Amino acid sequence: MARAELVENLNKALSYELAAIIQYSQHSYLITGPDRQVFKDWFRDQAEEAQEHAETVGDKIVALGGIPTVEPAMIRQAVDLPEMLKQDLELEREAIAVYMAAWSACDDNDLPQKFWLEGQIADEQMHIEELEKLTSERTVKVSTERIVLKEM
Ligand SMILES: [Fe+2]
Ligand SMILES: [Fe+2]
Repeated sequence: MARAELVENLNKALSYELAAIIQYSQHSYLITGPDRQVFKDWFRDQAEEAQEHAETVGDKIVALGGIPTVEPAMIRQAVDLPEMLKQDLELEREAIAVYMAAWSACDDNDLPQKFWLEGQIADEQMHIEELEKLTSERTVKVSTERIVLKEM
């Protein structure tokens, strides 16, 4: 039964990756103004990474005896950059949640699947942290403005 739950969660992950391919691509088309200079390519790079993830997950689902879904999850679109980034952060958070659910569905001794999922989860966490920085949800404070190097 654990395997069926694993496949079910991997199919949810696949639907988020399919949505990410479309959503990041759509954002790359819709971005206008000076931000386009940088963010058109940034969004397309994210779409490409989602494509790679989708392929890996689709191959894994078949290896586990399942049929990969062809239906993307909900796609969000916007025309201004802060809203796009917020939408992408929401999508990345939804994706990591189902990868974590897939990890939890693994049998304790199914280490190969767990290790593979941990790599996926680490990738998604990096996407989340990057988007948290881009949306300024994640910031740092500096306590000293001047850095004085110690003499060797
Ligand atoms: Fe992904
Ligand atoms: Fe991601």
